[in-house]
Amino acid sequence: MNIRKAVIPVAGKGTRFLPATKQIPKEMIPIINIPMIHYSVMEAVNSGIEQLVFVTSTGKESIENYFDRNLELERFLEQNGKEKELELIQKIGTTIEVITVRQKEQLGLGHAINCAKHVIGDDTFAVILGDDLVRSEEPVTRQLAEVSKAQGNKSVIGVMEVPNKDTFRYGIVDGEFLADDKKSLHMKAMIEKPKPSEAPTNLATPGRYILTNEIFDCLDEIPRGVGGEYQLTDAINLLASRDKVFAHIFNGDRFDTGNIEGYLNATVEFALRDEATRDIMMNIIKEKIGTYGIK
Ligand code: UTP
Repeated sequence: MNIRKAVIPVAGKGTRFLPATKQIPKEMIPIINIPMIHYSVMEAVNSGIEQLVFVTSTGKESIENYFDRNLELERFLEQNGKEKELELIQKIGTTIEVITVRQKEQLGLGHAINCAKHVIGDDTFAVILGDDLVRSEEPVTRQLAEVSKAQGNKSVIGVMEVPNKDTFRYGIVDGEFLADDKKSLHMKAMIEKPKPSEAPTNLATPGRYILTNEIFDCLDEIPRGVGGEYQLTDAINLLASRDKVFAHIFNGDRFDTGNIEGYLNATVEFALRDEATRDIMMNIIKEKIGTYGIK
C-alpha cells in the first residue's frame, strides 16, 4: 500500500523561539531564505504524499498562505524574468493538496495527531515534524514507507543513532534487529529521555513516523502523560502491545531546528552546502575566526 497522506503538526507554541513566535509560526522562520516548513513539505511531496494535513492553531495562517498560490507575485516574477524564483513559488503552490485542521488547545503532540483523525480515515499515514529537518538523497518518509510496505503495511518509527551520552535528550527505541537486516528492528517499546545508563539502545526518534490508523484508538485511550500532555510516545507503546511496530534507521542528516543550537547549525550547514552561499559563508567564518581569535 502506498502512503498518500501525511500529517504535519504545527500547533505548538514555539516558546524556544520567543519573541519571534509571538507573531511568526516557528515553522515559518527561514533557514537563510527558505522557511523550515518548506523542507518538510518538499520531503512529503518527494515521498509521493498527495494530501497534507496541517494541524494548526491560532496565528498560524501564514503557513496556509505560504502553500497557496500568489498569482500577483507569479505575474511580477514572470514579467521581470525571474524564472528561478517563479519556478520555486509555483512549485510550492501547486504540488500538493493541503488540508488544515485546528488543535484548539495545545495538549501535546499525541493530541495534535488525533485532531487529524477524521481526515485520515482508515488510511496508514506519515507524520513529519515541521521543526525537524532531514537532508537525505532519498526522502526519509519514502524510506520509512518502503519498510512499512515490506513489513505488511505496519507502523514504522524513523530512528537515528545518537551518542550514548545524549540519550536523555530523546525518545529512545528498544527492540530487536530483524534477521539479515542491520537497519530495521521489531520495536518493543519507546522510552522517553532515558539516562545513558538506563537506555536500552542509542536509537533516537526525531519526528518521522508511518502509523496505521489503529493509532487513533490508542490516542483515544491513553491518559495524559509527561507534562500533563497526551504523548504520541504513549500511544505508540500501546500500539506496539497490540500489533507489530517497526523502527528503521534512516539515511540522512537530521537538524533539530526547534531549538537555537540546531537552528544555527542548520543555517551554517545549509549555507555551506549551497553553491550560491558557500563562499560567502566560508569568508564570514574565516573573518570571525580572525576577529574573535577562535582556535
Ligand atoms: P515541541 O515539543 O517542539 O513544542 O513540539 P513547540 O511548542 O513547537 O516548541 P517549544 O518547545 O515551546 O519551543 C513538537 C512538534 O509538535 C507540535 C509542534 O508544533 C512541533 O511541530 N505540537 C506540539 C503540536 O502541534 N501541538 C501540541 O500541543 C504540541
